[in-house]
Amino acid sequence: MWVPAPVCGIDTGVVRVYAWIVHKVSIGVLGASGYAGRELCALVARHPRAELAFACANERRGETARIGGREVTFLASDDAPLERATLVFSALPHGASRPWVDAARGAGAKVVDLSADLRPGNGAACQVPYGLTELAREDVRAADVVANPGCYPTAVLLALLPLLTRGLIAGGGCVSIAAASGVTGAGFTPRRDLLFAEVSEDYRPYAVGNVHRHLAEMSAMVRALGSDADLVFTPHLLPVSRGILATITVPLAEPVSDPIGIWRAHYAGEPFIEVTSDVPALRDVVHRNVARITAHVAAGVRGPTLIVIAAIDNLMKGAAGQAMQNGNLLMGLDETMGLPA
Ligand SMILES: NC(=O)c1ccc[n+]([C@@H]2O[C@H](COP(=O)([O-])OP(=O)(O)OC[C@H]3O[C@@H](n4cnc5c(N)ncnc54)[C@H](OP(=O)(O)O)[C@@H]3O)[C@@H](O)[C@H]2O)c1
Repeated sequence: MWVPAPVCGIDTGVVRVYAWIVHKVSIGVLGASGYAGRELCALVARHPRAELAFACANERRGETARIGGREVTFLASDDAPLERATLVFSALPHGASRPWVDAARGAGAKVVDLSADLRPGNGAACQVPYGLTELAREDVRAADVVANPGCYPTAVLLALLPLLTRGLIAGGGCVSIAAASGVTGAGFTPRRDLLFAEVSEDYRPYAVGNVHRHLAEMSAMVRALGSDADLVFTPHLLPVSRGILATITVPLAEPVSDPIGIWRAHYAGEPFIEVTSDVPALRDVVHRNVARITAHVAAGVRGPTLIVIAAIDNLMKGAAGQAMQNGNLLMGLDETMGLPA
């Protein structure tokens, strides 16, 4: 737990309580002009114990944007005053992030890296906690650097955790994941196939053939949690700006009679997990830092099978919100602070 230094050498209880109340954690955001970075700046603006130390961009360095009701001017990353930040969020693209994580650490800041550079399954040399908060809360609390999970892996792994930790997925089975994401999942860089006229009123799969880059991360975590099941993952592009909905078909090691009861027991007391008997929908989760999950027995098949459905906001629980949840833990704050439940 962070404790404020005595103010002006006066070490009285009153001053300590005052300092504790007014102290703000200085936060730097790298990649602040991107979708995840802007969401982070907005979260910092509404956070009762955080203030923005700097916000950096690349092509849009020097521009000013209104984010979370405040004017934010983007610095060039090379001009980032890293030493001013207690906590740095790196919302940079894969490959570009790792050197900045090292630089921020060198300047004394703790870091949450939103890129894939330090995540499992991506060949990262150093091991840092994988910040799926509901799985690794205590590891995150004790860390200096956290690898924030990808958006699809967040939805899929939160959906599967109760089965994985109970060894309920059939040995050698094949878990089939059909998931759809809004277009902000692809980032802010312009692409022809993401133009409005190409995306609107359409619905299509991509990375067909089990080749999406998030597969390695999900598989690594499934292995780490003791299952040898295969994952077959087919992502789809939804003509909405934000949100992910994953429908997962899971072969079971044994029949279960009350699937929702398993999820309710596993996630009891979790502030950002909603287990529901209703069907989760994107409108239940957008702009909120929650995962909404249900599980149902599949009828009419020979082996015991569950259909698990999870919905998240890719920019919130799938990126900036979960990053702030982890950042709160790194700073010794209440993990829910400043987050829209
Ligand atoms: N979008 C999502 O749903 C989501 C979910 C989970 C994780 N993530 C991860 O979060 C990170 C950011 O994603 P995003 O969707 O926000 O991407 P984005 O919209 O494309 O934004 C990328 C940001 O990085 C900056 N940038 C690009 N190349 C840079 C470089 N070489 N050096 C310094 N800055 C550079 C860009 O600045 P300019 O715009 O000024 O060029 C921009 O601020 C990625 O690693 C992504 O995989 C994204």
